[in-house]
Amino acid sequence: MSRLFKASVIENRQVIKNHFLLTLHPLDNIGKPRPGNFFMISVDNCLDPLLKRPFSIHRWLGRDFQILYRVAGKGTSILSNRKPGDTLEIIGPLGNAFPSLRSNNKIIMVAGGLGIAPILGLAETINKYRPLCFYGARTHEELLCIDELISLGIEPVISTDDGSLGEKGNIVDVLKKYLSSQLPPPPRFCLYACGPGPMLIALSDLAKTFNLKGYIALEQNMACGLGTCLGCVVNTTDGYKRVCREGPVFPINEVIWE
Ligand SMILES: Cc1cc2nc3c(=O)[nH]c(=O)nc-3n(C[C@H](O)[C@H](O)[C@H](O)COP(=O)(O)OP(=O)(O)OC[C@H]3O[C@@H](n4cnc5c(N)ncnc54)[C@H](O)[C@@H]3O)c2cc1C
Ligand code: FES
Repeated sequence: MSRLFKASVIENRQVIKNHFLLTLHPLDNIGKPRPGNFFMISVDNCLDPLLKRPFSIHRWLGRDFQILYRVAGKGTSILSNRKPGDTLEIIGPLGNAFPSLRSNNKIIMVAGGLGIAPILGLAETINKYRPLCFYGARTHEELLCIDELISLGIEPVISTDDGSLGEKGNIVDVLKKYLSSQLPPPPRFCLYACGPGPMLIALSDLAKTFNLKGYIALEQNMACGLGTCLGCVVNTTDGYKRVCREGPVFPINEVIWE
């Protein structure tokens, strides 16, 4: 169920430079979001910027919920200045969600940078399956939610581009090494991933090489978020699909990267 609702800001806390954790209290009853769903958030009650901005559900707190975001441009800069007690207009929850696990698969979650925003929410719902988590960022300061993962019993395998924590390099290479080290017959893995485009492309190649199944959450520029403008389409093996309606979560082998 998705609908227009208002929510008041409980907290809008800077967690590291340019990154904020926004806690919102819906003023109406909303459908419980599932990991992978997103909200279109109006960053201000004025006409500029006119369009709402899409953000993944980070954590569902029972009735309140959180968004983890980075200041990328005008909209998110305005959002970062919203204060407790301010009211935001929101549509959601929108889009599909990470599908449920087939029990004979071992889950590998892969997060790149702020891709951890939906992946932590996913981890909270599937930690009973003891998933593995591979998590990469540019530098150790940009690794968020490590304590939260550990408190869920998930010890993430980490990499940073600058080598300041974990392995130096990108997380897909680290995952490749792990997969290559598995003795035959390897477990049946299922990937659940979110991160920047280049990471997802490399992960798709890896999935082909190792014949892995999995799901990726895409981030595409969005105008309406409701399936009407066609501004967010991606090419797939099943034709063009709207990230905001048929996605944002797609089977990893379905997306045709252009
Ligand atoms: C389904 C979905 C979930 C998302 N979840 C999160 C999240 O949890 N946390 C978070 O910080 N961001 C998330 N994003 C990205 C976020 O929507 C954009 O960063 C935001 O809309 C930028 O708005 P702006 O006005 O600040 O920037 P703009 O001034 O509009 O643009 C600034 C820069 O950001 C880029 N940008 C704009 N929109 C997007 C987009 N949708 N995806 C990627 N890059 C974009 C532009 O190309 C430009 O380079 C998500 C996007 C989608 C589609
Ligand atoms: S953003 Fe308009 S169709 Fe997806």
